[in-house]
Amino acid sequence: MLLAKSTWPEIEAFLGRSTAVVIPIGSNEQHGPTGLLGTDWMCPEIIAHEAQSGADILVAPTFNIGMAQHHLGFPGTISLKPSTFIAAVGDWARSLGGHGFTRIYFLNGHGGNVASIEAAFSEIYAGYSFSGQRAPFACRLKNWWDLNGVTALANRQFPSGHGTHATPSEIAVTQWAYPDAIKAANYAPQIAPNGPIREALDFRARYPDGRMGSDPAQATPEKGGELVKLAASSLISDLAAFAAEPPV
Ligand code: NI
Repeated sequence: MLLAKSTWPEIEAFLGRSTAVVIPIGSNEQHGPTGLLGTDWMCPEIIAHEAQSGADILVAPTFNIGMAQHHLGFPGTISLKPSTFIAAVGDWARSLGGHGFTRIYFLNGHGGNVASIEAAFSEIYAGYSFSGQRAPFACRLKNWWDLNGVTALANRQFPSGHGTHATPSEIAVTQWAYPDAIKAANYAPQIAPNGPIREALDFRARYPDGRMGSDPAQATPEKGGELVKLAASSLISDLAAFAAEPPV
């Protein structure tokens, strides 16, 4: 069930069946010469939408702008500062928490978001701690590649040249969902260099085409479909376990 395609009476009725909600969260940022700018928000959205097509779970609108300051040297990247992102994540969670959702599950598609999402959770909880109140909801962060079995499958599909940015696994997922948007390029070198992440001009100098450690030429829609099916199934299980935690 998609929140954006529902009415408020339908959401009110859903709350009678479940108080868990999934929020796909990612980033709009460069993904090398062939990866779509939306890759990091598309992947969790694709997986969450696939999961809800076969299960009675609720998926909120995708939070599609993340903490991507290091990619701002490439046209098309849109980023929030950590402080802005943390504040926005808190407002999303508190909005849903105020309606009775007790389990707010962020399915993340961008490694650069992790520290700020964790900080957002701490800010949310701190608000209750400092006022001596119980938090009415709990938050969970899961990166889609950390869903049960997904990294193991990606390692079998891409034993070398997976890398950490503009990876063949994330590009394969978008190829499966958006076959009309598949791009091609000659990669030089075939496997991109790896190294640290600092500010945007340093990033562009170290990684001239935007990739980190990856060879996206290995991506295929078929491999992407395998990843999506497995991730969607694992998401349903992980969300059920989170929803089944004893109430606070
Ligand atoms: Ni990515």
